[in-house]
Amino acid sequence: VREPDLAGRHVVVSAGGTREPLDPVRFLGNRSSGKQGYALARTAAARGARVTLVAANTTGLPDPAGVDVVPVGTAVQLREAVLKAAADADAVVMAAAVADFRPAVYATGKIKKKDGQEPEPIVLVRNPDILAEISADRARPGQVIVGFAAETDDVLANGRAKLARKGCDLLVVNEVGERKTFGSEENEAVVLGADGSETPVPHGPKEALADIVWDLAAARLG
Ligand code: C5P
Repeated sequence: VREPDLAGRHVVVSAGGTREPLDPVRFLGNRSSGKQGYALARTAAARGARVTLVAANTTGLPDPAGVDVVPVGTAVQLREAVLKAAADADAVVMAAAVADFRPAVYATGKIKKKDGQEPEPIVLVRNPDILAEISADRARPGQVIVGFAAETDDVLANGRAKLARKGCDLLVVNEVGERKTFGSEENEAVVLGADGSETPVPHGPKEALADIVWDLAAARLG
């Protein structure tokens, strides 16, 4: 257990995965379980922070004690909740898997198959990039912003490029594959810093990675 080094701080964590509806019964989603974000929220609370957890579709996970949980569904809803909570935050950690695209049209009635007809293509439009937006336009000077990246290959090179593109202070890069990371209790990562730092995190519990993220974030807080 770490010192209460985040006492008096407000931190925002996003967790889970957004769902982008096609119609009232269908959505485009992803395999993020929310466990890493919940571990970040729990560890920040244990270190004394006031924590806002913006939780996208994490119904299976219990609310962490003493944490303010804001449930959301879509990327647009997640953006609203994160911007609102980030206004007075010392740090924001974007652990949620946010859909890059959403269906251009939402059908208010269930989409039906029609006899003898090919299905309609699904047209997508871009979602806002929340991490890039909050990094470019910081709600507070000195606010520390952390992103996550799941990469399948060229993990470090892709991670460095993403860190620069997003403009955040730290990027936690996970290698993902068929059996890695998603839904698992454990994680393995490298945390890249905008200052050029590189912190490898060995395979271990998501709580351990969370504590290292807070160590690195705390060191960057004014
Ligand atoms: O670009 P990519 O989806 O790989 O970036 C992942 C990081 O960016 C995560 O921290 C995720 O929360 C954030 N993100 C975002 N808005 C998006 C897509 C990703 O904030 N539309």
